[in-house]
Amino acid sequence: MKVLRTPAQMGDAREQARHDRITVGLVPTMGYLHEGHNSLLKAAREQCDRVVMSLFVNPTQFRPGEDLSIYPRDEQRDLAIARAAGVDLIYAPDVDDVYPPGFATEVAVTGLTEVLCGSPGSRGPSHFTGVTTIVAKLLNTVDPDYAYFGQKDAQQATVIQRMAEDLDFRTRIVVLPTVRERDGLAMSSRNAYLTDEARERAAAIWKALLETESVYATSGLEAGLEAGRQELDRAGITPEYFEARYPGTLDPAEADSDEAILVAVAADVDGTRLIDNILIEPEKGKVNAT
Ligand code: PAF
Repeated sequence: MKVLRTPAQMGDAREQARHDRITVGLVPTMGYLHEGHNSLLKAAREQCDRVVMSLFVNPTQFRPGEDLSIYPRDEQRDLAIARAAGVDLIYAPDVDDVYPPGFATEVAVTGLTEVLCGSPGSRGPSHFTGVTTIVAKLLNTVDPDYAYFGQKDAQQATVIQRMAEDLDFRTRIVVLPTVRERDGLAMSSRNAYLTDEARERAAAIWKALLETESVYATSGLEAGLEAGRQELDRAGITPEYFEARYPGTLDPAEADSDEAILVAVAADVDGTRLIDNILIEPEKGKVNAT
C-alpha cells in the first residue's frame, strides 16, 4: 500500500491505472476509521481493481466553533486498517496542497443543501458547500470509476449524487447501508466523543427511528413521527430535527405518501452532534393507516 501526499502524485498513479486499463474505486474519508468505512472499503475491494482511500480532514466543511481542531485523528491506526482491508493507495494530501494560497472556488448545490442539516437552525448550507467542493476535487484528482459513501449521511449522499450528475462526473456514486453498533447506534467517528452515559442514551436515536417505522405502518406518518420524538424525549434527547422527507428530492413527505420516505434525525447528545436516518419502503408504511 502506497501513501500519496500530493495531487500530482495521485495524478501520476491515476495515469498508471488508465494505462493499465484497470478500474479504480475511491473511498473518501476523514479518517478515524470504523466498521462503516470498512464496509465501503470491502465493497470497493470486491468491485474494483485498484482501491484508493482518501484521508483528509476537510476544514471547509466545519463551521467556526465546530470540532475541527479536536476532530479525532490517528493516521497510523487508519493506515493499518486500510492495509488490512486491501487498500492499494492512500491519498492523504496536506491542507495547503488541497487549498493553496489564492484558492477561490466553491462547488455549491442549491435547494437540497438548505434543509435538514443545511437549514439555518442546523449547520447551514456552507457545510455542504465544503463537502461538495472537496468531493469534486477528489473526483477530479482520483477520477475513480466508482466512489463509495455511507447511507448514514443520507443528505450528503443525495447532494453528492446531484452534484455528480449535474457536473457530468463519469464516476458512479455508490451508497451503502449504515453499519451499526449492537444496540443500533450508527457507527461514526464522532461516537468517540461520547461518555459512557451519553453513549448509552444515544442508542435511543435508532430506537426512535424504528419506533417511527413501526407506528407509521399502523397509524400513519404524523403518529409515527410523534412516536419517534417521544422515544427521544424519554432518553432526554431534544432533536435538532426529526423529519420525514423524500430521499431523492428531500422535499417534505406527504402524510399519505405511496413512495419510500426518509426519516432523518440530528440530535445533540451531551455536546456530541449525531445524525441518523431510516429509509421506509412503501410496503412497510401505511399497512392499516386510514
Ligand atoms: O463523509 C465524510 O467523511 C466527508 O464528508 C467526506 C465525504 C470524506 C468529505 O470530506
